Amino acid sequence: MTKCTGHYGTPERIAADIYAIPFPSDKTLFSKTLRQIAPDLKKMVTELFESGEFTGKADEITTLATETGRFVLVGLGDTDAMGVERVRRAAAQAMKVAMKSVAPVVAIYVPLEEIVRKILPVSFEVTVSAMVEGALLAMYRYDQFRKSKAEDKKGQIKEVKIVTADEGYQSRMKSGIQESQQLVEAVEFARDLVNAPANVMDTDALTKAAVALGKKFAIKTVVLNKKEIQANKMGGLLGVNQGSSREPRFIVMEYNDKRKRLKPYVLVGKGITFDSGGLSLKPASAMEEMKTDMGGAAAVLGTMFAIAKMKLPIRVVALIPVTDNMTGGAALCPGDIIRISDGTTVEVKNTDAEGRLILADALVYAQRFKPAAIIDVATLTGAVVVALASHATGMMGNDEELKEAMTLAGNTTYERVWELPLFDEYKKMMESDIADLKNLGGRWGGAITAAVFLRHFVGEYPWVHLDVAGTANLESATDYQPKGGTGVGVRLLTEFLKNREG
Ligand code: BES
Ligand code: MN
Ligand code: ZN
Repeated sequence: MTKCTGHYGTPERIAADIYAIPFPSDKTLFSKTLRQIAPDLKKMVTELFESGEFTGKADEITTLATETGRFVLVGLGDTDAMGVERVRRAAAQAMKVAMKSVAPVVAIYVPLEEIVRKILPVSFEVTVSAMVEGALLAMYRYDQFRKSKAEDKKGQIKEVKIVTADEGYQSRMKSGIQESQQLVEAVEFARDLVNAPANVMDTDALTKAAVALGKKFAIKTVVLNKKEIQANKMGGLLGVNQGSSREPRFIVMEYNDKRKRLKPYVLVGKGITFDSGGLSLKPASAMEEMKTDMGGAAAVLGTMFAIAKMKLPIRVVALIPVTDNMTGGAALCPGDIIRISDGTTVEVKNTDAEGRLILADALVYAQRFKPAAIIDVATLTGAVVVALASHATGMMGNDEELKEAMTLAGNTTYERVWELPLFDEYKKMMESDIADLKNLGGRWGGAITAAVFLRHFVGEYPWVHLDVAGTANLESATDYQPKGGTGVGVRLLTEFLKNREG
């Protein structure tokens, strides 16, 4: 992980190859920024401002060279609904420029406190955290399987200096920098899991990743093998696994398991290492990205990473059912009836609706912990992508307070969630003629009917379901999310859990 440190002073006093300075578009605040952070640039930048070349508008970016070094000016714009997200993006945009140059040390300026207060408006600490997140997340690459680029000096960033020009603020940066670095590390961990191809990140590898994580942070980790899964009568997980050449696993991790007084939060992650659709086979174009069908599992593991590293004083259990969904000779057939571990029978109308089958067993298992709440994360439906594209995670649940807290955490982290309803009328759509439930709704409302199915297995416990099918994996990059695995859910759930301390 790239070194990240906090500093105070104008560019002449800070050693760096590139200096990135965010400018707001308000004229007075623009010149204040110039006066306080980079007085030496006054003439040049004023000219740029007057010619309209750089006026501090959002997404504006320009570079300058002086005797002191190279400068990247990034626009912050004016007050907008995006709030501190603007800072993440500005930091990421600056890093992208730096990564195209030979610049081992990059200095990024925190917007002046006054500006933060007027346009974002959040605390100085939150701004610093956002800068670190944006800068470091933008540097992520999945290049384990590429020839070493070590000889190329471009893009090799050794250190990111976060710099304030507000006197006395340096000491207020430390904890934010450290915590954000830890968070980014956890997000990168999740991204790596998602980006790894299915022949690498198979059942065994995903299980090993969880066990290794448990070891690293002393999180109690137990993995149920096929026999134990059978003993638990997990007919959903076993059913989906029938067509596979690999045995299923069920991962149970307990963070702070000794603190029995605390009711745990149980996180459930969908761990389908590859989803061919089973006998209800997916078309090639839809199957292509199905190595990412363990994005929910990655989010849960990444969250365990983050909360353990930050030593949050709460109890959290992670449950991850793991298998691929394949078409072997013993595969589930459309029309088969299986039995979930609570005894519920399910008519499998479509073997491609496999996520809800393995999650059902996990949700039943979750109840034995008498949880404070159950939160499941899953790349569950194409329908949620139709509804929300990649800009929000679909949220459904049975508890208003929990959904509100999740929404708040989504807005803070900009891993936004958007609620879809679970009206009583939807229930009918999942009724089978010959079993307790069927695993397929009608043609419409697919994200909702999937959640209605899940709700059947959570009992009376407060529960939120997060459908990350559109957000866990991106077709094209954004400022700080590369194409591919995003690690979505890690920052969201960590923020959510942070607010639940005690
Ligand atoms: N893993 C898919 C959902 C998915 C779709 C994830 C696109 C990421 C991107 C899930 O198992 C699935 O196949 N869902 C079906 C359900 C249907 C058969 C009821 C779907 O959405 O088409
Ligand atoms: Mn499927
Ligand atoms: Zn799936």
